Amino acid sequence: MLAIIGGSGLTQLSNLDITRRLAVRTPYGEPSSALSFGRIAGKEVLFLARHGHGHSIPPHEVNYRANIWALKEQAVESVVSVASVGGIRADMQPGVIAVPHQIIDYTWGRKNTYFEGGEQPVTHIDFTEPYSAPLRGRILDAARACGEPVVEEGVYASTQGPRLETAAEIDRLERDGADLVGMTGMPEAALAREADLAYATIAVVANSAAGRANSLHAICMEDIEQVLQTSLARVRRIIEQLASDA
Ligand code: HPA
Repeated sequence: MLAIIGGSGLTQLSNLDITRRLAVRTPYGEPSSALSFGRIAGKEVLFLARHGHGHSIPPHEVNYRANIWALKEQAVESVVSVASVGGIRADMQPGVIAVPHQIIDYTWGRKNTYFEGGEQPVTHIDFTEPYSAPLRGRILDAARACGEPVVEEGVYASTQGPRLETAAEIDRLERDGADLVGMTGMPEAALAREADLAYATIAVVANSAAGRANSLHAICMEDIEQVLQTSLARVRRIIEQLASDA
């Protein structure tokens, strides 16, 4: 089954025919919200709102371990995460949808592994390619099939938040090779790999990153709302196509 983790602006999927909601507990605590089961294009899909239904959980307080565990327990095989990001690279303008292929992790103090404590053997997952190549391919095919232009790769920098970055921090991220910046990409992607789930991200550029383009002196929150509404409608179309291709 395909699962969608919805980020800012995507607390529900309007094209999801919800058949059942399930509140679960995991050994790591409660996930961000109840799990919504439903159908898109006739296919069963599970939806989870990363920041809770009322968007009340900030990025550094999301229980990523419980979220991924809950999906794994429901026999999910593939996870598409939807995340709003700031655009660093010049072509990552507000409104652009990108499917990143790499991650740099700048987060700290988050519970970032299932392999700790107790009698667990020391385990190092391979994370050379942090996103599932086949799932990325399916997303790109779906976008092509429904005529939605997407940027086909990008390096996602995961920052700690909840504050936005300084202009100098964005300069540093760019020197590091980052094209996009968001606050939720990690440890979500690594936990999905630990749980042996295929995981990929659809990143929606909500704003130019701090110090760039029209965010030269400040990031305008009102603009973000506007951009997200339009772009998330496009993301829903891609997800619908993806589900119907499955
Ligand atoms: N920085 C970090 N996270 C974000 C941004 C940003 O500029 N925009 C949306 N999420």
